[in-house]
Amino acid sequence: MKPVIFITGATSGFGAATTRHFASNGWKVIATGRRRERLAELEAQFPEFVHGIEMDLTHHESIKAAVKAIPENFQPVTCLFNNGGLALGTNPIPDIDPAHWRTMVETNIMGLIHTTLELLPLLKQVGRGASIVNVGSIAQRFAYPGGNVYGATKAFVHQFSANLRTDTMGTGIRVTALEPGHAKSEFTAVRTGGDFEANEKMYADNDPLMPEDIAQTVWWLANLPAHVNVNVIEVMPVCQVPQRPVILKREEFSA
Ligand SMILES: NC(=O)c1ccc[n+]([C@@H]2O[C@H](COP(=O)([O-])OP(=O)(O)OC[C@H]3O[C@@H](n4cnc5c(N)ncnc54)[C@H](OP(=O)(O)O)[C@@H]3O)[C@@H](O)[C@H]2O)c1
Repeated sequence: MKPVIFITGATSGFGAATTRHFASNGWKVIATGRRRERLAELEAQFPEFVHGIEMDLTHHESIKAAVKAIPENFQPVTCLFNNGGLALGTNPIPDIDPAHWRTMVETNIMGLIHTTLELLPLLKQVGRGASIVNVGSIAQRFAYPGGNVYGATKAFVHQFSANLRTDTMGTGIRVTALEPGHAKSEFTAVRTGGDFEANEKMYADNDPLMPEDIAQTVWWLANLPAHVNVNVIEVMPVCQVPQRPVILKREEFSA
C-alpha cells in the first residue's frame, strides 16, 4: 500500500510544492485548501496520486467534512502536513485591523488544532512511522515590528507541537515543528492584501528559501526511520542572519 500524506494549504507555496514532491515520489496526497481550481490543477497533473478536497481551516465543520470525504483508497494517513496559514498586515500595534488578528488566530491556531484532532484517528491506524509536521516560523522566536499576532500564533504552534508529542506518546506518531525563515511563496502578497508587486520585490535582490526546499525537508522528516523524532527544525536561507537585540539611543525614544 502506498503511504498517504494529508496537506493543508496545498494550493500555493510550501503546500503545493510538497504535494508535487510527494506525488512525484510515489506517495498519495490528499491536497486541501479553499481554491478548488488550484486543487484541480494538481489532480490533473498527478491523476492517480492526488485527491483534492476543498477545506476552510477557519471552520471546524469544513475540516470534519473534508476528513469524512477522504476516499478509502487514501486511508490510513501516514503523514499530516499542517501547513496552511497566513500573516495579515505589517503594521505595529496599535495601527492594526482586529479582523486580521482574528483571521490569523482562527487559521494558524484553531485550524491547525482542529485538523490535528480530526486526523489523529487515521494517523493512529498507521501508528509507528506516522508523523505530523506543523509549520511554525522563525517569527515565533525572533520578534520584529509588525510581527505581533502572526509571530504569536507561530509560538503557539511551537509549544502545541511539544505538548502534542506528550499526548501521543506511545502511539508511535512523530511530531515536528518545522520553522522556516524567509521563503518565496504568495505569503507577502496575502499579507499585503494582494500586492503581488510587493511580493516579487521582497525576493528580487536576495536568495530566499524556495517552496521546494521546504518540500524536501518534509520529505526527509516523513521518511526518517520510525524511531527518530525531530522535535524542532529551524531553516533559513543563507542570506538571512538573526541579529542581536537592538539598543536604542536616548534620543531615539519618542517620549
Ligand atoms: N513564506 C514564508 O516566508 C514563511 C516563513 C515561515 C512560515 N511560513 C508559513 O508557511 C505556511 C505556508 O505558507 P506559504 O509561505 O506557502 O504561503 P502561501 O503561498 O500564501 O500559501 C498559504 C496556503 O495556506 C492556505 N490557507 C490560507 N488560509 C486558509 C484557510 N482559511 N483555509 C484553508 N487554507 C488556507 C492557502 O490556501 P487557499 O487560499 O486556497 O485556502 C494556501 O494554500 C504558512 O503557515 C505560513 O505562515 C511561511
